[in-house]
Amino acid sequence: MTDRRIHPDGTPWRNFYGRIKGKTLNAAQVVRLERDLEELSPGPIGREANPDLIPLDLKARFGDRPVWLEIGFGGGEHLVHMAATYPDVAILGAEPFVNGVAMLLGKIEAAGVTNLAVHPGDVRDVFDVLPDASIEKAFLNYPDPWPKARHHRRRFVTPEYLAALFRVLAPGAEFRVATDIPDYVRQTLEEVPPAGFVLEKGPTDEAWPDWLSTRYEQKALREGRSPHYLTFRKP
Ligand SMILES: C[S@@+](CC[C@H](N)C(=O)[O-])C[C@H]1O[C@@H](n2cnc3c(N)ncnc32)[C@H](O)[C@@H]1O
Repeated sequence: MTDRRIHPDGTPWRNFYGRIKGKTLNAAQVVRLERDLEELSPGPIGREANPDLIPLDLKARFGDRPVWLEIGFGGGEHLVHMAATYPDVAILGAEPFVNGVAMLLGKIEAAGVTNLAVHPGDVRDVFDVLPDASIEKAFLNYPDPWPKARHHRRRFVTPEYLAALFRVLAPGAEFRVATDIPDYVRQTLEEVPPAGFVLEKGPTDEAWPDWLSTRYEQKALREGRSPHYLTFRKP
């Protein structure tokens, strides 16, 4: 019998614990998902599309633009804001929650931005095919909090994710983290420096000058939780 947890090439399938689907999508969202994702693709990602995990050709896709990465963009407001603010940069976003991707596509259409690419799935699949030192800035805005102690190893700020992020970041690249969970700040401070990053600023309640408050941050504020911002750098 085949072991469904193991890929035919011998590597393990990864567990994903978050939500992939939410409320029913409206007709316009369904149209955009079918119509727009191919053009927004950064290139072949995932075992099906890219069985040999051939690294993405970012130069062919984005030219000489620096490439930034947003991990778990949610509804996409920060991603579109950054793309509009920095037209000379290309921003790649990954998000497995299809309703979030659908919201992003609506925002891209409304803003008319073209300097971004979207992977509608797990950022680990993007890491697998990003060349070393290819990303000049990364954003982790309000990662899933996983509040129960037994779930803390599912958080992004754990060695598997951080090693992959570190590899794809260019020397000197900035890594921004925003969270409303004090225990997430604790784990970030504990785990990110051993992965090779240097803490440059924070934790602070003062956002970056080009920050755009996200949907999740707005919800946190309504519910009485405060933002914490941290800035790391790959030396
Ligand atoms: C709490 S939400 C925050 C969304 C958005 N950044 C914001 O601030 O509104 C966390 C997001 O991370 C996404 N996420 C979780 N695991 C992920 C992974 N492995 N790769 C990419 N995104 C992921 C979730 O689907 C979710 O949309």
